[in-house]
Amino acid sequence: MERIIIKSLVLLTLTNWAIGLALCPAGCSCEDERLLVRCQEGNNLDILPITLNPATERLIIKFNSIRIIDSSIQFYSELRLLDLSNNQIYLTEDKVFIYQNKLLQLHLNNNKISDINNNTFKGLVRLETLNLRGNYIMELRNGVLATTPNIEYLNLGQNRIATIEPEAFDGLKNLKSLYLDDNILTSIPNFAFKNIPYLAELFIGMNSLNSLENDAFRNLINLAALDIHGSLLTNITHAAFYRLKNLKSLDISDNSLTKIPTAALSSLQRLESLKIGQNDFEVIGEGSFFGLSFLRKIDISGNKVLKRIQPGAFAANPNLETITISSNKLLIDIHDGVFSDLPNIKNVDLQNNAFVTIREQLLPWRSLKSFELADNPISCDCELKWLHTILIEDIKSNYDIICKSPVQFYEQRLQDIPNEALGCSNGRSPIVTYIIFILMIAVATTIGVYKNRHFFRHKFQRKSQFINNDADCSFEQHHIYEEISVKHNDNMSNLMHYNNTVNSNIYSFGCPYPLQQAVTQPPIYLPTGLYDERKIIPLYTTH
Ligand SMILES: *[C@@H]1O[C@H](CO)[C@@H](O)[C@H](O)[C@H]1NC(C)=O
Ligand SMILES: *[C@@H]1O[C@H](CO)[C@@H](O)[C@H](O)[C@H]1NC(C)=O
Repeated sequence: MERIIIKSLVLLTLTNWAIGLALCPAGCSCEDERLLVRCQEGNNLDILPITLNPATERLIIKFNSIRIIDSSIQFYSELRLLDLSNNQIYLTEDKVFIYQNKLLQLHLNNNKISDINNNTFKGLVRLETLNLRGNYIMELRNGVLATTPNIEYLNLGQNRIATIEPEAFDGLKNLKSLYLDDNILTSIPNFAFKNIPYLAELFIGMNSLNSLENDAFRNLINLAALDIHGSLLTNITHAAFYRLKNLKSLDISDNSLTKIPTAALSSLQRLESLKIGQNDFEVIGEGSFFGLSFLRKIDISGNKVLKRIQPGAFAANPNLETITISSNKLLIDIHDGVFSDLPNIKNVDLQNNAFVTIREQLLPWRSLKSFELADNPISCDCELKWLHTILIEDIKSNYDIICKSPVQFYEQRLQDIPNEALGCSNGRSPIVTYIIFILMIAVATTIGVYKNRHFFRHKFQRKSQFINNDADCSFEQHHIYEEISVKHNDNMSNLMHYNNTVNSNIYSFGCPYPLQQAVTQPPIYLPTGLYDERKIIPLYTTH
């Protein structure tokens, strides 16, 4: 009976076409030359129209009220694209797509589909894109997509998936992108990934993963992008990413990590982009991103408790080009050494932290392609004259830096204040300024003599010591000076000798033991005269 009705409908439709009476439903536009039918959003079609041109290749009925995909769709066996997203579809009859063997894209996102089985998509042998995002699917059973072997893009995000059976993705040998984000998974369904070895992108954030077991992605050796944001991760075990040797992009933001998972990350030898903001670590220590020598981009934003970034934090990442450290409300300062081993740095975003001032020596501001400093509680005083000059001269910084203090400049743009009005916070009388000036010269002279004491000792004692026990070996001291440490070695009179350190530009100056936090390499001997003793030589060694 049903068949007869369908046949007569087909006949009717064909007859209509033959006599030029094809009906384009009200609110739809039917472009015969382009074989495209598009029904207006909100038109409230509640069934699939059956009177369209059967040669239609693209059928788009979004934001309507269709509830069922039934055999009406079988009139359109030439379809390449079917977009029924944002309707009320709760049912797709079994084998309903059996004649759709030319369909390449099927968009069913934002409907009410709660169940799919191994007959739902039968017939879609060429399908490349299947979008089921935003439905009510609860489980993926074995072989559920085995009839659609050409799918490359599969979006199952924003469903209610709690269970994925071990053979759920079997047959999807061309799958490249898989979205499982925003479901209720409690672990990485790694068994289900064993037959999709060419998967390049996996989005599995916004689940309740809590932790990642060692080798959690062992079947995805070709993965290039992995997104696990917002998944309540409290820690990541050291071998979690073991075997993801081709991963280029990782998002582990918006979790509950209390420290940087340095060991786990160090497996990701090819990583280029890392998002690790919105976590719960207070400190980013020296060498936190050890092993990530290809890293070009890092995003550390929205950390509520981040207080400190230590010098050398990025020392293992000389290829960093883009750094975003923004919206960290407890971050009041960044040490001058933090960005000092980054010859390729181009874009720096330091918006919306708690910086009161910014020091010129922090970054090579003028050679950066872009920098952002907006939304910090900036104090516009003489400390920022340099920045004022850059903002005035330089077009690349069209960012508004709004002063929060002193009161007379409250809420004004730094670049709108005349440079000479940027005073130092305490108004002093000229005589006090004069005394301070004299004192500063005295201090500078003392420091100069002190810093060059070895030179003077050479000059006056004409005898140098191999080990100088008087040397100031404190980390701070050496960090500030950033001088190459060169020691004369009497035993090898024409050679100079310096300590060679890893992960830092810090060298001891006549220091009898390796500096704090610096890893000492065997000493290197260089002919004298090759290096000026007092020259600052940024030297970075890797192994
Ligand atoms: C389809 O699923 C049903 C029920 O889960 C199962 O019994 C059947 O063997 C499956 N068919 C194929 C071809 O996998
Ligand atoms: C991190 O994970 C390991 C292994 O799952 C667990 O033993 C340890 O207690 C966790 N540490 C924290 C701080 O949660």
